[in-house]
Amino acid sequence: MKISKYKNAKPFAIVALMTCYLAGTAFAQAPPVQSDAMNGISLKDPAYQNFWNKWRPIVSRYRVDVNEIRVTYANDVAMKTIEAGKTEFPKGAMFGKVAWRAEPDPLFPNSLMPSQLHRMQVMSRDAERYADTRGWGYGIFTPNGKADMGDHIPMAKACAACHDYAAGKGFVFLGEMDVNTAMLKSQQPSTATPRVLTPEEVKLVSSIHMGTGKVKVSPVVRKNVPENIRRYLPVGSPSVQRLGQEIAQFAFVGTLSEMTPLLLNAAQVAKQPAAFWSNDQKHWVMVSKDEGIEACKKPDSKDGASFRILRSSPPPRQMAMIGIQLMESFVCL
Ligand code: HEC
Repeated sequence: MKISKYKNAKPFAIVALMTCYLAGTAFAQAPPVQSDAMNGISLKDPAYQNFWNKWRPIVSRYRVDVNEIRVTYANDVAMKTIEAGKTEFPKGAMFGKVAWRAEPDPLFPNSLMPSQLHRMQVMSRDAERYADTRGWGYGIFTPNGKADMGDHIPMAKACAACHDYAAGKGFVFLGEMDVNTAMLKSQQPSTATPRVLTPEEVKLVSSIHMGTGKVKVSPVVRKNVPENIRRYLPVGSPSVQRLGQEIAQFAFVGTLSEMTPLLLNAAQVAKQPAAFWSNDQKHWVMVSKDEGIEACKKPDSKDGASFRILRSSPPPRQMAMIGIQLMESFVCL
């Protein structure tokens, strides 16, 4: 500290400053410094450096509670174990995970995309060295690549304690993102039936806002609504908000799912039914407020506000299974 900076200050002020300064050096702890390593794992170590560029991305996850999109990567040693269908990972097996905050794409708000980088995590197998944490070394890093602050030993124990849930899988959760296996599974009939969305889905759907104004909404009076859709328009609704006329020319069944959250939002804002239909009127989906839905009359749904989602056809696989042309689901808010 340069006293000369304070030469114009009154003498008592200088004394006061000096006192604070001296007291500060005597009692305050040194400011915490972020270290590079946690439990001997550092993103500066060539073994882990830029793992996201050299290891294989094996699964992508979304954590609902913290709104994070995660990608998990495995090194070659870990991959060999996974491909062999084994769960006993040998020394040198490593996993890395990168987590981003999820945010609606401003160009298409019902698709969440990775935004701010939030953290990186590593698991490194060495049964002897990390015997206290079931043979896995744990490291957590902030977006600047430094080890997370805090006491690393209890932190690693906390990591290991939760990873105990996956004890039967070698303490790694993983999950499948293999297209070949998924294709095989999709040959099996789906058991999907009309249903009430889960609270997580509702949270997701209702967090999405129209935002960009790129998808246009315009009211269509009842008599101009195509007959096959008008039939399902609630009695007493003089009009419906039609969404996304530009897309209507090229719509297919998948478009219906993509439009649903936007319709829910439009129906809430406009306080009247909202619908999307293709120009050929074959594909359509309508969202309308409906107080009378039994499934929503649970003690925990506050005012019982509920929305009915009716669509022309379920995706083809489900259609074959449940054999109906219309699919219905509900959102209780
Ligand atoms: C409260 C539970 C919990 C705690 C605590 C926890 N994890 Fe995890 N971890 C999970 C779950 C669940 C997954 C898989 C799903 C996901 O990634 O969201 C996971 C996945 C991982 C993966 C990818 C490999 C795998 O198992 O799928 C790594 C690497 C990882 N965690 C590191 C850590 C580190 C490092 C810590 C401590 C700083 C930690 N975890 C603490 C629950 C936890």
